[in-house]
Amino acid sequence: MSESNGNHSSTNGSSPALPRHIAIIMDGNGRWAKRRFLPRVEGHRQGAKAVRRVVEESVRLGIRYLTLFAFSTENWRRPSDEVSSLMKLFLMHLESEVDLLKEHSIRLRAIGDLERLPAPVASALERCMTATQEGTAMDLVLAISYGGREEIVSAARRIAAEVKSGALDIQSIDEVAFSTKLYAPDIPDPDLLIRTSDENRISNFLLWQLAYSEIVLSPVLWPDFSKEEYMRCLEEYARRERRFGLTREQMLELRTLERSA
Ligand code: IPE
Ligand code: IPE
Ligand code: MG
Repeated sequence: MSESNGNHSSTNGSSPALPRHIAIIMDGNGRWAKRRFLPRVEGHRQGAKAVRRVVEESVRLGIRYLTLFAFSTENWRRPSDEVSSLMKLFLMHLESEVDLLKEHSIRLRAIGDLERLPAPVASALERCMTATQEGTAMDLVLAISYGGREEIVSAARRIAAEVKSGALDIQSIDEVAFSTKLYAPDIPDPDLLIRTSDENRISNFLLWQLAYSEIVLSPVLWPDFSKEEYMRCLEEYARRERRFGLTREQMLELRTLERSA
């Protein structure tokens, strides 16, 4: 499939071993802290260090897109002191990591209901995205105040508005047209979803985009997520056979065609 298909899954046949897009549900900060009799916020602080490790390792490996689930629409309902600690941490890191992002030619992007963010966080995010917009090595996509259902509903709202205004004909609404209304339509679907901390659920993350992603679960709590554990997840991914609903033989044929093209 061509790049112009936006969010649609690529068969990724030419380079199956290395994911082009990795999405991570960074989970387990609270349990990490609890096990050490520390406040939950300490888990989030240590979690930020794991973010840096994974970001640096991803650029080194040549991953083109990395999407990190930092804060969900449901997380707004956590105790207000935890929410405000998290917002302070976002603010601090958005301000302190700009140089590192630029140094590695990383472009920061964000998906989610950003209007709900406190003004200082929203403006720090805006500043960081502007400062890094020339980055070409990797797009680092922060899913913040993000909910998969909300993303789909907001896309539906935009489609409905276009139909109402006469700009869009109902018959031309298909998967490609719909996906152009999602938060980041130019980014291909994740090839790999990693979730840490031994939880086996999607938790409202990228509901549309994960349709054909490979899922690798890591038992490690996010603050302990090391380069080695990251490599183990990537090795597990490399052993997977992605078929996108086709037969094994069809997929092999597709790969041969893509290689000779
Ligand atoms: C993930 O860690 C970070 C956020 C959701 C913001 P948690 O805070 O969910 O940690 P656990 O799941 O309670 O251990
Ligand atoms: C998902 O983790 C959200 C993030 C990692 C930001 P949660 O900890 O909020 O998910 P549940 O509640 O265990 O499903
Ligand atoms: Mg959790």
